[in-house]
Amino acid sequence: MIKIIFILVLAYLLGSLMPGYWLGKLFYHKDIRTEGSGNIGTTNAFRILGPVPGTIVLFMDIFKGALAALLPTIFGWEHVNVMLVGLAAILGHTFSIWIGFKGGKAVATSAGVLSVYNTPLFLMVCAVFITCLILFSMVSVASMVGFSFATVMSVFYYQDIILSIVAIVLTVFVFYRHRNNIGRIFAGTESTIPFGLVYWF
Ligand code: G3P
Repeated sequence: MIKIIFILVLAYLLGSLMPGYWLGKLFYHKDIRTEGSGNIGTTNAFRILGPVPGTIVLFMDIFKGALAALLPTIFGWEHVNVMLVGLAAILGHTFSIWIGFKGGKAVATSAGVLSVYNTPLFLMVCAVFITCLILFSMVSVASMVGFSFATVMSVFYYQDIILSIVAIVLTVFVFYRHRNNIGRIFAGTESTIPFGLVYWF
């Protein structure tokens, strides 16, 4: 039991690390929580800080999720469920101890966890995500479609109970976190990225 609590706390603290916030504060003297969409994640880091820090945030957010999911293997405690540990990291990312229990929208960190737990599904989700970006030019749309796809695959194709439950809960949560984005999508004011069909046409 102590081992499980230890690994969950460690995963939560890993997920709590906020590269988007810290990069902005340390190197650009900007708080990305108060600019753009106000989100702490990759998209807003790209928007406010630029492509290089945005890319760093993307990889760091994915990496911390993947590292958390690898903790049971790293410690040799394979009996501790990877998805449970991953969920603790995702909770850390969305309710970070370092920024008043606020945080991001769970997209990149969840992707990192999935990359360890089910690599083929992770690659398929990436393909769906990129296709949506090309079609709609909106990261929010690609994120929500990607989570929905992962849920459908978990439930109907992999029939993995734990993954399915986590995917359903996370998808509901991700839609909730994107509620302002959804409002902007319907109002036609959601920000677009500079590639993809919607941006150009
Ligand atoms: O991962 C977050 C993304 O889906 C949307 O980000 O900054 O446009 O709200 P943002």
